[in-house]
Amino acid sequence: MWGAFYIYSTPSGEESSYGDQRTTASLRPPEVASNAAQKVDGKQIYTGKCAACHQATGLGIPGVFPPLAGSEWVIGDEKILTSIMLHGVNGEMEVKGTVYKGAMPAWKSLSDADLAAVMSYIRSDWGNKSAEIEPGTVAAQRDATKSRTEPYKGGQELKSGG
Ligand code: HEC
Repeated sequence: MWGAFYIYSTPSGEESSYGDQRTTASLRPPEVASNAAQKVDGKQIYTGKCAACHQATGLGIPGVFPPLAGSEWVIGDEKILTSIMLHGVNGEMEVKGTVYKGAMPAWKSLSDADLAAVMSYIRSDWGNKSAEIEPGTVAAQRDATKSRTEPYKGGQELKSGG
């Protein structure tokens, strides 16, 4: 009995360092561990990739970079917002009564989870109160617009369904 236990509980040969390499994450049940890894911080993405133009306040720079706080594009239709993010915009677009004519970069190199997280973030800060966007919505819109190779030419094209 004790002999069997000894053999069972003592790692043999090359496996002897196995116990030291495990982290608490790998000891959690697989489901919990992968959820934790998928939880992307939208605010962190915003700070790193968007705030230089749209500002940490979400107010943009009047006449140059449009605001996201209170923007009809941000709090409105989730598919159109997703299209803006995936392909960018280059042309005239009206935001809160002011016409902008700049260039919003395309972000299709970001993952569905990252895009969903950053969009959910901008829809919920600065007084915005719109529903979260799911990674599945981003995946569907990415597929629906996959033939597009250039930015939208402005607000008109976005509203007409791109
Ligand atoms: C290099 C500057 C720049 C960066 C970086 C940038 N944007 Fe933009 N963004 C713009 C400009 C300029 C427009 C307006 C485009 C136009 O005039 O056609 C715009 C438009 C938008 C719009 C639609 C209009 C509005 O104000 O609601 C959204 C939404 C948006 N950006 C979100 C983001 C998010 C989220 C990020 C980060 C992932 C980001 N942008 C990064 C410059 C930028």
